[in-house]
Amino acid sequence: MGAERRKPKILIVDDDRNTREGLQRALRSQYDVHLAADAKMAIGEFALGDVDVMLTDLRMPGVGGLDLLRTVRSKYPKTICILLTAYGSVETAVEAMRDGAYDFLTKPVNLDHLDAVLDRALKSKDLEERNRRLEDENRLLGQQLDKKYGMESIIGNAEAMQPVFEIIRAAAPTLATVLITGPSGTGKELVAKAIHRLSTRAKAPFVAVNCAALSPTLLESELFGHEKGAFTGAESLRKGRFEIASGGTLFLDEIGEIDMATQVKLLRVLESRTFERVGGTQTIEADIRLIAATNKDLQELVSQGRFREDLYYRLNVVDIRLPPLSERSGDIPAMCDAFIKEFAERNGKDVKGITAEAVNVLSAYRWPGNVRELRNTIEKMVVLSHGDKLTARDIPAQIRDAAGPDAGRTAPPPASDGTLASAEREKILSCLRRCGGNKTRAAQELGISRRTLHRKLKEYSRAAAGGRVAADSR
Ligand SMILES: Nc1ncnc2c1ncn2[C@@H]1O[C@H](COP(=O)(O)OP(=O)(O)OP(=O)(O)O)[C@@H](O)[C@H]1O
Ligand SMILES: [Mg+2]
Repeated sequence: MGAERRKPKILIVDDDRNTREGLQRALRSQYDVHLAADAKMAIGEFALGDVDVMLTDLRMPGVGGLDLLRTVRSKYPKTICILLTAYGSVETAVEAMRDGAYDFLTKPVNLDHLDAVLDRALKSKDLEERNRRLEDENRLLGQQLDKKYGMESIIGNAEAMQPVFEIIRAAAPTLATVLITGPSGTGKELVAKAIHRLSTRAKAPFVAVNCAALSPTLLESELFGHEKGAFTGAESLRKGRFEIASGGTLFLDEIGEIDMATQVKLLRVLESRTFERVGGTQTIEADIRLIAATNKDLQELVSQGRFREDLYYRLNVVDIRLPPLSERSGDIPAMCDAFIKEFAERNGKDVKGITAEAVNVLSAYRWPGNVRELRNTIEKMVVLSHGDKLTARDIPAQIRDAAGPDAGRTAPPPASDGTLASAEREKILSCLRRCGGNKTRAAQELGISRRTLHRKLKEYSRAAAGGRVAADSR
């Protein structure tokens, strides 16, 4: 403290000399700028001392920018990496963000934009370092908090949920924007909160906005706030959600519903990380981590021209897809137990469990409203029950009927017996469901040929038919 602050060290990696030197001229008054013409020279610079920020071109002869990024991220994790990309390779840049790049800029570089990104990057680096120190001191406490408030709230263990947990764990500590998709009631908001709690921003606010609930004008002032007199009815200054969430996480729910004009404004904020209140001129910094959610297919909306592609890419840096409950019915017993306990306590009821038969009926039902519907059903059952165990008779009739007459007697198909073959089967079937039965797309997504997929499906249906025959002849 009090000591003179050293200039942050920036390394510019680009095979084009004009770009290198142009950036150097623009940055040298504020930063200690070093240059490298290729990845090898860049790594040499790292050996000479800490680099605060590396700006690297994506396409270079020899080792490319993506590989350089990966090396630097694993060997020098404290360095912030920013990609420079030519127009048209935005998808690669998005891939780079998944590999830990902090941001990307398209060439030719807009110097104001560069300034803003560097400024923000260095601030977040300071914050991260402070947090890391705090974390070291409080590691034990931190772990306990994680346990209590992190992923614990998300019940389940099904194969279909494993990628979700993995991505949450990997993405939470970063500042990356997260897009959560999935049908209604699958736990999108729950996941957003878990990410917040597992992030370095856990102690700052988590602010949620339901974009579908507000008209375009109201949404804009809700997000960015307004100055006194900005429009009729704006009687005093009002802070928007971006300002209220400062330092924390902003959760934009039902992002698929926002109108085109607000999309433009949102994109601008995400790129510049600054905004103005409605009717205001003062530029305010948006220090937020953004998480967005939707039950719409955004890509479909993009192809219909109803959602901006550039905004989609900005939001979709990390994408989490929540499977419908019917693809993880193995988790239903654990959910039943947890919900029973919660609602028994809340309502002062003496319900302690549920019969196996009742669990089987609930597991056979399709749950179009997903976890929310299951949760509401259990609540109703607990409130109305008389005994100390919920039974199949406590299940609302329309669910019992829809689940099928034998649902209580036969066990549901095992979610997984833990073998590699069954994990493969589950993966293939859930992918096929996700692709709406489109085999070409499913095969593509799985990285196998259509023929292999056909063969596997035939095997499964033969096995299923065999299983039924065996069961019937008992
Ligand atoms: N895996 C889970 N474990 C425990 N509770 C869950 C789980 N998933 C969802 N829930 C509960 O189900 C309810 C619905 O979840 P949530 O509001 O997160 O869904 P959503 O995907 O945001 O739905 P919508 O698209 O309708 O907004 C909440 O009460 C939530 O706590
Ligand atoms: Mg929701």
